[in-house]
Amino acid sequence: MTIEDTSTRPAVSRRLYTEEEVLAEELATIFAKTWLLVGFESEVPQPGDYVTRRMGADPVILTRSESGEVHVLHNSCTHRGTQVCKAAFGNSANFRCGYHGWTFGNDGRLRGVPGRRSVYGPDLDLGSLGLRQARVGVLHGLVFATFDQDGPSLEEHLGDFRWYLDRVFGFFPGGMEVYGGAHRVVIRGNWKIHAENFIGDGYHLRIAHRTMFELGVMGKQAGKTRGFCISSPNGHGVRAQYVDDEEAAGIVFGYPDALLAGTGDQDLPDASAFRAASSVIHGTVFPNMPFITTAPVQFGDDAVGQTAFTQVRSVMPVDPHSHEVTYWSLVPKDAPEEWKKQSYLYSIRQHGASSYFEADDLENFRRIDAGLGGPAAADVPLNYDLGVGVPPSADQPPFTGPCTVVNQDLSEVNQRNFYRRYAAVLNGGDAQ
Ligand code: FES
Ligand code: FE
Repeated sequence: MTIEDTSTRPAVSRRLYTEEEVLAEELATIFAKTWLLVGFESEVPQPGDYVTRRMGADPVILTRSESGEVHVLHNSCTHRGTQVCKAAFGNSANFRCGYHGWTFGNDGRLRGVPGRRSVYGPDLDLGSLGLRQARVGVLHGLVFATFDQDGPSLEEHLGDFRWYLDRVFGFFPGGMEVYGGAHRVVIRGNWKIHAENFIGDGYHLRIAHRTMFELGVMGKQAGKTRGFCISSPNGHGVRAQYVDDEEAAGIVFGYPDALLAGTGDQDLPDASAFRAASSVIHGTVFPNMPFITTAPVQFGDDAVGQTAFTQVRSVMPVDPHSHEVTYWSLVPKDAPEEWKKQSYLYSIRQHGASSYFEADDLENFRRIDAGLGGPAAADVPLNYDLGVGVPPSADQPPFTGPCTVVNQDLSEVNQRNFYRRYAAVLNGGDAQ
């Protein structure tokens, strides 16, 4: 409806980034029905731990109940709808509504109603008045949820793209955990601009981030690289870039040797090939989970002291012109504490809310918003042709992974695929 698919190229309307009606449809379809990242198991390690988040228009609480189970609860009292939890995080066995005092357990069940016997008749059924529960799916400690009780499973939603998530988030046998908590900020620009930036935009790097490369703040930059854009029919995508240098062969940049000892291909075929010599891997899990794992190329003296980092985000619409970003830095659980701290610092310095990379991107997101809204060119679609008609490079990917792997470093194939999926969901296709 809002996207024309002309031959192989979706022409994306500017309306998608500015209109309230489009956002209303997105909230009712994409955000209400698709699996969304809510947080991480490591954010709620103990019974009673909780964090508050949002799934589209709905506030939620990610909790660990007394039995150790992870729940995602609608943060809205079943009496009048008040948010029952106001804090960003904490530990509590119960959530007591601040309006009339109905009290819900951290498993969502309604446990107490003030004056129940005297002011309600005998028929008040506490069992049917608990907080609404989302379906929960966990992959490598990432907690996804959806309020669509009958839709596809998380496995179906991720499909073959899971191969790549396994190698990013399941690479270290001991698993990964959040370090430094969740950082949240509201920024100017439509949420999709952020999602599509991460899904495969290698094209902006040398322009938007030119100063960072010229200053050499990330250490030595690789002379020759080769990259691949990988997209899934479910709308997910990732771009993997590799250093073409003999010195890089077999190296997973930025991790202590001891940490890499237990990694490899035994449980994850081609994991080493996918990760080794990679300078950056970034992508987006449809619809709104950007991620990046990167490291400075570690064979220059100026890279000493810099580490690898892995960062995950959630981009959640506030209105058509702004979105809330939640940033998490992930570290291998088995890494030394000093290394975890260093990786976290590097993550927030390079890609945190006020980092040197983010300043460039957020300024461009803001300028996109400033440039799109007027009527002068409302009928001129945005262009997503990058890579169309260009022969694939002779470079072959160093791994054998599923989905569509395009031998082009600079292509908008992942963005085109994202918007095809987006259009299908908005038009009533399943939200898988
Ligand atoms: Fe929650 Fe009344 S609104 S107890
Ligand atoms: Fe960028």
